[in-house]
Amino acid sequence: MKKINPLTRDPRPMSNTVILPAAGAKTLADIDPTLDLSAEIDRLRKEKNAIILAHYYQDGEIQDLADYVGDSLDLSRKAAATDADMIVFSGVRFMAEVAKILSPQKTVVIPDAEAGCSLEDSCQPGPFKAWRDAHPGHISLTYINCSAEVKALSDIIVTSSSAEHIVNQLPKDQPILFAPDRHLGAYIKRKTGREDMVLWPGTCIVHEQFSAREITRLKSQHPGALVAAHPECPEGILQVADHIGSTSQILKFVHDSPAREFIVATEQHIIHQMQKDAPGKIFLAAPGADGGCNCASCPFMALNTLEKMYLAMINEAPRIEMPEELRLRALKPLERMLELAPIKKPEQNAA
Ligand code: 13P
Ligand code: SF4
Repeated sequence: MKKINPLTRDPRPMSNTVILPAAGAKTLADIDPTLDLSAEIDRLRKEKNAIILAHYYQDGEIQDLADYVGDSLDLSRKAAATDADMIVFSGVRFMAEVAKILSPQKTVVIPDAEAGCSLEDSCQPGPFKAWRDAHPGHISLTYINCSAEVKALSDIIVTSSSAEHIVNQLPKDQPILFAPDRHLGAYIKRKTGREDMVLWPGTCIVHEQFSAREITRLKSQHPGALVAAHPECPEGILQVADHIGSTSQILKFVHDSPAREFIVATEQHIIHQMQKDAPGKIFLAAPGADGGCNCASCPFMALNTLEKMYLAMINEAPRIEMPEELRLRALKPLERMLELAPIKKPEQNAA
């Protein structure tokens, strides 16, 4: 029977790259409630020579405990370069898969096996392959938010911080297929002036929920506030933005800007990092259509907790494993990305 994704109610099968904890492994019920989880995670980190990588959309307590916090490109680079024996990836599953593809000799664990992504769900390998076959002569640029199988069927992987730079390195007359985020794809298409760029119709369930009308209303109540938006937002949101960029580019913008107030149109846990970096500035989460919802929270990222991270380190599962043949095919377009992506100054990546 097909496994149904509990968050999206999606009947399509979930990733088969995750090895779940074995029978008899420790569970949440085994955790002593008086345990100092941060201290225990720290102990396991040393004992297992582990590195904890976290995305900016993780809960503040996870970001604070991580060895490294970054955007998708930063995290890929870090996963490829670390000499740790274990990578504890606190983000979503496709990010942990990237870590395994780039560092196959390491044990890669994730706190929750079901931390997926609506973009990944929207783009299954079968239909993606058929789409590619229907567009001969097109180069396939695929956003990193996809499964290892879809990566293996792509020519170059891109992230939100590298897509424009990579597209600009392709010959002007090269037709492009861009999957799976149609909003990011449309944004890159506008920015690069590419006419022959076909978009897969996927979207992020978080960035889709912001309301341009409510953002404009909030801005009128905070006249000095600048709007920073992620390119996964629909065009209407990007039109009211003062800055558009990946999570790390947004962080850099609010750091460098002389403005004091910002409306943040991306997953709201990034505000934790902004407050740490610029405690004197004010950050407002962009509102959704009803003006007051908590819709800027990614339900997949939210599955990860310190308790589950602790268990993953003890059990060494959920753990990413994949056939070597698949890994090697997925590695090629990821290596293309790392070759073509812009180089960043190291100090911008620190946790
Ligand atoms: P970046 O951190 O690369 O901007 O990615 C955003 C995102 O939605 C990750 O799922
Ligand atoms: Fe996927 Fe959107 Fe969540 Fe990022 S924020 S993991 S794109 S659903």
